[in-house]
Amino acid sequence: MRKPFICGNWKMNKTWNEAVDFLGDFLPRLQGVDGGKVQVGIGAPFISLERMATTAKGSILEIGAENCFWEEKGAFTGEIAPNMIKAAGSTFVIIGHSERRQYFGETNETINKKLVALLKHGLVGVVCIGETLAQREADQAEAVVKDHITGSLKGIAADDLKNVVLAYEPVWAIGTGKTASPAQAQEIHAFARKTLSDLYGAAIADATRILYGGSMNPANVKELMACPDVDGGLIGGAALKPDDFEKLVKFNQ
Ligand code: PGA
Repeated sequence: MRKPFICGNWKMNKTWNEAVDFLGDFLPRLQGVDGGKVQVGIGAPFISLERMATTAKGSILEIGAENCFWEEKGAFTGEIAPNMIKAAGSTFVIIGHSERRQYFGETNETINKKLVALLKHGLVGVVCIGETLAQREADQAEAVVKDHITGSLKGIAADDLKNVVLAYEPVWAIGTGKTASPAQAQEIHAFARKTLSDLYGAAIADATRILYGGSMNPANVKELMACPDVDGGLIGGAALKPDDFEKLVKFNQ
């Protein structure tokens, strides 16, 4: 069975002390949440990672980064390597977010290099995939999703898939308040799983989690999570508010 993963993506929000304030409010709300039944994470700016991981120690909350570089060390001014993220207490890295594709020139190739690098350090890669509105309107959603999966996972061994989570985020639904309908989400999630099955076989495809992202909120989480191939959420706006994020984490209560 795939354990649901409710993962915040804070993007470029909150100073580290605002992050610690958030945790002061949010962590007590996790008491009684069974970490065996749901995995909870927050992807946060690099500068907050260490303090957040220290603050969250002993709780079920995991902390992760929103990006990394693919080299181990060296003359790459301004970049952050996976081993630094790991040393700061993080367990996962979100890579290939559409904002990074759009504003920072990320491609399948750079995402793939990042995935290879972070897997080497025992981190989990949350790999974002998904089409733009223009691509959906041109009937290319499946082709784009297939291209993102095959490109990002190129050369990744089957055994490493246990440390890979996919996040389907239709770009037209991110931060817009427009959510994919459960039927639209399920259709692409099933297609993504079939793509995984073609690449790695049914057992690995069945075991790999595929999160939905794009305006997930307390009002729509239940119906999205009821889709058989939706295994969690990658949540931007609603993860910035303790009340909303608590409701998302407790979607099945
Ligand atoms: P949103 O962002 O929940 O604010 O739409 C999701 C994401 O970009 O990961």
